[in-house]
Amino acid sequence: MVKTWELKEAFGLDYLQRTERAPEPLGPGQVRVRVRAAALNYRDLLIARGLYDPRQPLPYVPLSDGVGEVVEVGAEVTRAAVGERVMGCFAQGWIAGEPSMERIRHTLGSRLDGCLREEMVLDASGVVRVPEHLTDAEAATLPCAGLTAFSALFTLGALCAGQSVLVLGSGGVSVFALAFARLAGARVFATTSSDAKAERLRELGAEHVLNYRQEPGWGRRVRELTGGRGVDLVVEVGGVGTLDQSLRAVRAGGTVAMIGVLAGGKEPLNILPAVMKQVRMQGVLVGHRDGFEAMNRAIESSGMRPVVDRVFPFDDAPAAFSRLASGEHFGKVVIEV
Ligand SMILES: NC(=O)c1ccc[n+]([C@@H]2O[C@H](COP(=O)([O-])OP(=O)(O)OC[C@H]3O[C@@H](n4cnc5c(N)ncnc54)[C@H](OP(=O)(O)O)[C@@H]3O)[C@@H](O)[C@H]2O)c1
Repeated sequence: MVKTWELKEAFGLDYLQRTERAPEPLGPGQVRVRVRAAALNYRDLLIARGLYDPRQPLPYVPLSDGVGEVVEVGAEVTRAAVGERVMGCFAQGWIAGEPSMERIRHTLGSRLDGCLREEMVLDASGVVRVPEHLTDAEAATLPCAGLTAFSALFTLGALCAGQSVLVLGSGGVSVFALAFARLAGARVFATTSSDAKAERLRELGAEHVLNYRQEPGWGRRVRELTGGRGVDLVVEVGGVGTLDQSLRAVRAGGTVAMIGVLAGGKEPLNILPAVMKQVRMQGVLVGHRDGFEAMNRAIESSGMRPVVDRVFPFDDAPAAFSRLASGEHFGKVVIEV
């Protein structure tokens, strides 16, 4: 039997149940993966609370992100071999090119069962190899947060050396964006609510860190820090609650990568600054497999290591969800499987 965590009866973190499932059959073109580590994203909290997709069926296995070892391959599999370490792609059907509803419909940890289980069967076309120097815990952080940051900066943002980036807060996506932006030779500005986290963001290469609680007008301040020009790209994870400041911080003709809803809020938003500055508002949905492999090459050639906040044992999975919900983490929360 396969040790599993699932939400069966109702939404809510209190309903996470430790269960056992029968092993899934392995079809042609599929691989069986012994999961070694899985990572949490803010999305996993939203899904578990029933706030992400009103049509999310129960039961489901949480977590889009995981890494493991291929233990069996089906007929006609050429992309992966037994013994290899692989990660599952967030959107299993999106290999390359533009998104379409068909390509982005089937995502792990939502409509498809996720990685919080000892073993899973995936289509071989939906896995990629792990950069060799990474531990399992580090690799588990890549499929959603890592790739989202990479897509925002490079695949969609076309960032280049000498440009400037603003990252908001010190969560998974933002810390990845900081690391990738530094790798590309960009200047990085950051916000956070904590002085201790500000120090860590500086250690990772942020040039200026602003406390968004103490300095609610951080957008204007960022613009001043760039000599009045504004940053080339904002990694916007806050949503309506931060967008007005992000629009102040971005340069005329710059890009706001629209990623998240951490700061929620339903206040009316003045979009006029986006028009008057001809800002490109670029939605980002994680990324495709080609982008995932491009990111892995960048990680491999640079030796970069993801920032892991804390690793929880499999049986303590609910504590990992609580850690993420607390907002006290820095970087990624991981569960060993
Ligand atoms: N579109 C996509 O493809 C995609 C992919 C991944 C994630 N997302 C979304 O992106 C967002 C971030 O995800 P994540 O997994 O990185 O989250 P996370 O790790 O849970 O991020 C939490 C951190 O966000 C910061 N934060 C919270 N409220 C903030 C605010 N008002 N202003 C600035 N920072 C704030 C806090 O940083 P400090 O403690 O430093 O203040 C907090 O610790 C979520 O909304 C998620 O759903 C979207």
